[in-house]
Amino acid sequence: MKVTVFGTGYVGLVQGAVLADAGHHVLCVDVDADKVAGLQAGRMPIHEPGLEALVHRTQQLGRLDFTTDAAEGVRRSPVIFLAVGTPPDEDGSADLQYVLAVARTIATHMDGPRTVINKSTVPVGTADKVAQVLRQVLAERGADHVFDVVSNPEFLKEGAAVADCQRPDRIIVGTDSPRAEAQLRELYAPFNRNHDKIVVMDVKSAELTKYAANAMLATKISFMNEIANIAERMGADIEAVRRGIGSDPRIGYHFIYPGVGYGGSCFPKDVKALIHTAQEAGFEPTLLDAVEARNRAQREVLFSKISAHYAARGGSLAGKTVAVWGLAFKPNTDDMREAPSRNLLQALWQAGATVQAHDPVAMAEARRIFGERPDLRLVDSPMAALQGADCLAIVTEWQSFRVPDFDELAQALTDRIVFDGRNLYDPAVVARHGLTYVSIGRPVRG
Ligand code: UGA
Repeated sequence: MKVTVFGTGYVGLVQGAVLADAGHHVLCVDVDADKVAGLQAGRMPIHEPGLEALVHRTQQLGRLDFTTDAAEGVRRSPVIFLAVGTPPDEDGSADLQYVLAVARTIATHMDGPRTVINKSTVPVGTADKVAQVLRQVLAERGADHVFDVVSNPEFLKEGAAVADCQRPDRIIVGTDSPRAEAQLRELYAPFNRNHDKIVVMDVKSAELTKYAANAMLATKISFMNEIANIAERMGADIEAVRRGIGSDPRIGYHFIYPGVGYGGSCFPKDVKALIHTAQEAGFEPTLLDAVEARNRAQREVLFSKISAHYAARGGSLAGKTVAVWGLAFKPNTDDMREAPSRNLLQALWQAGATVQAHDPVAMAEARRIFGERPDLRLVDSPMAALQGADCLAIVTEWQSFRVPDFDELAQALTDRIVFDGRNLYDPAVVARHGLTYVSIGRPVRG
């Protein structure tokens, strides 16, 4: 099938490449000419395992192309994906200007039937708004083309985006049009082989499904962080509690890892947007409010532990050098949007500390965000971050941080203390090496 994808962010680029790999002919459209030129030359705008190879292969096969020419994108394909950004407005609601601008472009250039598929995470009711724009612009043109607007939310995780997209758990198709449903079944046939993963429903339910999924996962995380805060005040160990409750299949082991709060481009934005949608509809969502509040507080927890440690010894963080491992909001990505590391760094700087940080892939992104500043040194390896540092703070659970040489750590860190926001280690092991170990929801050791 010929497919056009508007937007070459995480969702659009990955979806476009995966559809091309499955045999479709995909044209990706973006307004950012530099990004398009880079993609044409095979340069990836994001770090995502497997993506580069997939893009190169499908480009060589002639099934994936990139352009800034929106009119061409609309004319070429009967099926058009909307995968442009929906950044939060100041009040937390999703900003639909890019989605609606693409809708106008589609209506301006369409010359036959089109199916517009919404992949961006958009509030309930957006498909109706897109349809309204299409109808209005077509009427202005005096054109009378058939169209359907389908909600088909994406559930990929950054860092595993290609794999998630290639092997979806479910394919949500929100439409009441048999024509559009048949088209999406054909489009997704290569991903729907072993058992039927397609769940067809009305458009609004599909739109809400996306928010409900992310809000549920965010709720699990905030719940665990809440219990972790209780555990550490009771002298209990949240990791034991996690294993204890996860073994109940009704609860499950996924997304119950306590830490420094959820970050990234999805959970924080989507929980706020859902709160906003609910309020607009006249409902006060007390649970979602609490999920969001717990998360805001949790992102300050690691700094609180560090500053409390020094305050308890009559000292302060002024003049201290803190080694930081991990800047990305989670492993296997260079994405630092809403990353808890940003809260930690800002708080450390405010307290007068210098940060010596390492991240396996987010260094360039950190440089872009923070620029040159005397209280930030970005270094090439985890061990280099420890040189001359007083203590270590771990923010992202990269695989490469999981088995450090604890003796080397104890030697390098002047104050011989590790603040772990991800509970990577066995406290007894760390303490055995002469280090003090402060983690989340567990008693301090050493
Ligand atoms: C999330 C969802 O997992 C995807 O299903 C969804 O498609 C995507 O949002 C989206 O809406 O586009 P993502 O933001 O890439 O994906 O990352 P996650 O792996 O879900 O992690 C989100 C945050 O939660 C990270 O900061 C992570 O560290 C944190 N987290 C996750 C925890 O603190 N504890 C956990 O147990 C799991």
